Amino acid sequence: MKEIIFQYQMLEDASKLSSEDARLLQLARAATSKAYAPYSQFQVGAVGLLNNGEIIEGTNQENASYPVGICAERVLLSAVSSLYNGVAIQTIAISCHNLKGESKNPVSPCGLCRQSLLEQTLRQHQPIKLILSGMEGSVYIIEDAALLLPLSFTANDMK
Ligand code: THU
Repeated sequence: MKEIIFQYQMLEDASKLSSEDARLLQLARAATSKAYAPYSQFQVGAVGLLNNGEIIEGTNQENASYPVGICAERVLLSAVSSLYNGVAIQTIAISCHNLKGESKNPVSPCGLCRQSLLEQTLRQHQPIKLILSGMEGSVYIIEDAALLLPLSFTANDMK
């Protein structure tokens, strides 16, 4: 029998974060207001800190043709790859504002975004730390986004 163990840290609230991580989460919470989410009313902000110190934002962008919509995380990854090609992402803070309900629980990247985060991690040869939280409340810290996708499919599988 094989076993994969996934570990992450849970903090009661953002006050327990380092000042750098707290700032990134604050920016992610603020970025939710820039989402275009008229259909789900679920606004997501993803903010990345790059190795060169730049901070880049992404928000979810929906469409009347629903599947066309894209998550905040992949908007961010595309922006980084286009604007700062070759620069690694150290940390990504992700927050959500549910306009129809509460926003006290951390948001976790969807399956497509996990695959995209994994590809970015492999490209940059450096793990991406994730900080997940709603507009308030508890915070999850995941040291390596690749941990979210065990037994993943990568380019190696096509060799
Ligand atoms: N969404 C994100 O942007 N990131 C996530 O981690 C979860 C879901 C978006 C997609 C869609 O616009 C809305 O949230 C509801 O699913």
